[in-house]
Amino acid sequence: MNPIQTDVAIVGAGPAGLVLARMLHLQGIDAVVLERRSRDYVLGRVRAGIIEQPVADLLVELGVGERMLADRLVHDGVQLQHRAGGAMVRHRVDFAALCGKTVTVYGQRELVRDLIGLREADGLPLRFGCEVTGLQGLDDDRVMVSCRDAAGESTISARYVAGVDGAHGITAQLLDADGRQTLQRRYPAAWLGVLVEAAPPSHELIYSRHPEGFALASMRTPEVSRLYLQVPAGDTLADWSTDRIWEQLHRRLDLPDSPVNEGRFLESSITPLRSVVHRRMRYGRLLLGGDAAHVVPPSGAKGLNLAVADMVQLSSRLVRAVLHGDDSALNDYQEACLRRVWQVTHFSWWMTDLLHRLDDEEFGEELRSEQIRTLSDGGTLARWFADSYTGLPI
Ligand code: FAD
Ligand code: PHB
Repeated sequence: MNPIQTDVAIVGAGPAGLVLARMLHLQGIDAVVLERRSRDYVLGRVRAGIIEQPVADLLVELGVGERMLADRLVHDGVQLQHRAGGAMVRHRVDFAALCGKTVTVYGQRELVRDLIGLREADGLPLRFGCEVTGLQGLDDDRVMVSCRDAAGESTISARYVAGVDGAHGITAQLLDADGRQTLQRRYPAAWLGVLVEAAPPSHELIYSRHPEGFALASMRTPEVSRLYLQVPAGDTLADWSTDRIWEQLHRRLDLPDSPVNEGRFLESSITPLRSVVHRRMRYGRLLLGGDAAHVVPPSGAKGLNLAVADMVQLSSRLVRAVLHGDDSALNDYQEACLRRVWQVTHFSWWMTDLLHRLDDEEFGEELRSEQIRTLSDGGTLARWFADSYTGLPI
């Protein structure tokens, strides 16, 4: 059987792959999205909740913003909490005053639902349950993409392949088999996250640095909280009973006038904290982006946003390559992405170090407390934090 032909094979229907597919479609470029998980699985995955202002604006431009604009919560500040003078205190960082920007609280799950809905309504190819198992001919005129689904093995012939298959996909491995182009840092901590049927303790996010470890109170709606606890790397959900989770959430987050509200768990998960950067994002006709190319710890709420920023760089270059036959358009893709990648990697590392308990060193404790006090003064550090958190221009 002759292979299906397309301009761009997109490996992975996460935010990166789906946003890229949308951008290419708006420019009249053919793409096939291949996703190894089932449709239900992809629509059920929880993950991110914070969308930077430049990314939210872009989603609206792409025609994906209708439900987001109706249902989102717009936050113009965030709360930082730490122990000072023997008690937990909270400082507000006012994004609107410091940099004139805001962030959007809207779940990744909802965004993915919107993107899938649009693609399906447009009748465009999106194959769930279809795993990419190999790529041949990355240096030739066309790439042969091998896939496996319930019907068996098949091949797609593509001019370019977008490797947007996340942190555990295969495309990054194909590109850097010996790992020599990959830089990484592991942290001795993970995040235990719970989605809870109860109102959040504050109308804004609370990032808490506590002697027993970090905690975060976020939300999805005014009725649904998203709460996180720092736990030791290697812990599993079996180590954390519901009572233990609530006990630690109260201890690390509660202030007398805004305690965490208890409710039914709708979902729970554990995510290890790590930073990964693949210095090589292109190999012939394969281009990497999103979590396949870099992973940041979730402390700075950046992974999804960075994935979308990569896709802006990639889509404009693919348009030139496909519509004008200008293959050299892709030559500077990696360079165009990596500056932002390192800025965001630094910001996410800095947030992680600032807020978590990663060692027992008292010296470091004092340094971090001082930085939180400096952030609450509204000076240069606070302006940098507000600008970085709400999102640098794309
Ligand atoms: P993914 O979403 O991982 O999508 C990749 C897709 O590829 C997956 O669907 C996978 O099944 C598929 N795939 C893998 N291998 C194959 C294959 N061989 N063939 C076909 N398909 C394949 N980011 C933010 O910006 N803001 C936040 O507030 C935030 N909070 C987070 C909280 C948590 C707890 C976690 C875990 C992450 C958070 N993130 C946040 C990060 C964000 O979720 C990720 O950065 C984002 O999902 C990356 O998107 P992606 O499309 O690159 O990869
Ligand atoms: C979330 O709401 O899931 C969330 C918020 C802020 C973060 C990470 C995750 O830094």
